[in-house]
Amino acid sequence: MPIVLFLPHKIILPTGAKLQANKGETILNVALRNNIKLEHACEQSCACSTCHCIIRKGFASVLGWSEKEEDILDKAWGLESESRLSCQAIIGDVDIEVEIPLYNLNYTTEKY
Ligand code: FES
Repeated sequence: MPIVLFLPHKIILPTGAKLQANKGETILNVALRNNIKLEHACEQSCACSTCHCIIRKGFASVLGWSEKEEDILDKAWGLESESRLSCQAIIGDVDIEVEIPLYNLNYTTEKY
């Protein structure tokens, strides 16, 4: 079973988490199954970008990429070349490392 290492996020996950995933599961599902409150405002329909994450290790192994995801990702705060929507990012055979961006479209800088 692949491992998903969530890097620390100062609000959602201060100490980070190392979690077992099932091949074929999305990154968002791994988070939610383990009570990590990753935002998902459109309920995983690839329409909001609030579930944006950055895959720091194992990016090439993560499946499920589509043009629709690319369009929605363009709205994400802090977009990087290894950004994905966690609701669309399907885990393969490889362990991955995931960063949850500090902000998303539902947060303003005043909250932090
Ligand atoms: Fe809205 Fe992923 S939950 S795009």
